[in-house]
Amino acid sequence: MKSFELSSEQEANEPAFTIRPAIAEDAGSIAAILTECFHPPVGLTRWIQPWIQAGLKAEISLRLRTPPAFYSCLVALVEEHTAGTVEVALRSLPQQWWMPPGLGGSTRLAYISNLAVSNTYRRQGVARALLLEVEKLVRRWNQSTVNLHVMERNRGALALYYGLGYQLERTEQEWPLLGDRKLLLHKKLSA
Ligand SMILES: CC(C)(COP(=O)(O)OP(=O)(O)OC[C@H]1O[C@@H](n2cnc3c(N)ncnc32)[C@H](O)[C@@H]1OP(=O)(O)O)[C@@H](O)C(=O)NCCC(=O)NCCS
Repeated sequence: MKSFELSSEQEANEPAFTIRPAIAEDAGSIAAILTECFHPPVGLTRWIQPWIQAGLKAEISLRLRTPPAFYSCLVALVEEHTAGTVEVALRSLPQQWWMPPGLGGSTRLAYISNLAVSNTYRRQGVARALLLEVEKLVRRWNQSTVNLHVMERNRGALALYYGLGYQLERTEQEWPLLGDRKLLLHKKLSA
């Protein structure tokens, strides 16, 4: 299995990490990171967190055991600990409320999801390195852009994406006139 040693680019005070494609046995640790990052124990989630994590584990395990074509999940490891993860797939954009049925499914794009880095390993370049590996994969799929959604209020992630050269494609709203806005970003890949 291919893994990518990134230790040479690390600063002296940062832990070295490696990036490799995830395997089915990683499903548990990936689910733990996604739960930590996207379902923190606040309010009701405090009580249902174990079920959320178990559901994520089952979903990811299934994807890793029977991966669709043009799909990849990467993990960043610090020693034996999973520090971060990201998924990328060639897929149609998620259907939006304002799109006529089927429109979201018309064009397949390289789409990034579930980028998450455990709190312990943040601001050490893990997400940046995962995204750069994703770009290499996507180039191999002969795609000229990478695309993703990010909530407008997620300032840390926005700083990361804009710093890597992502640009705003459009602003979307989950529900008409309600809720947080999310941004569709894309990055054009050089040949
Ligand atoms: C967003 C997230 C993935 C960043 O992971 P990370 O490994 O800490 O990011 P990196 O260390 O690679 O950051 C690279 C650069 O991005 C920017 N950045 C990252 N996190 C930032 C933050 N919280 N605030 C401001 N800038 C940030 C900085 O410019 C940073 O470089 P610097 O540390 O030299 O200043 C991580 O905070 C996370 O998992 N958040 C919760 C889940 C999430 O929001 N995922 C994205 C969904 S769209």
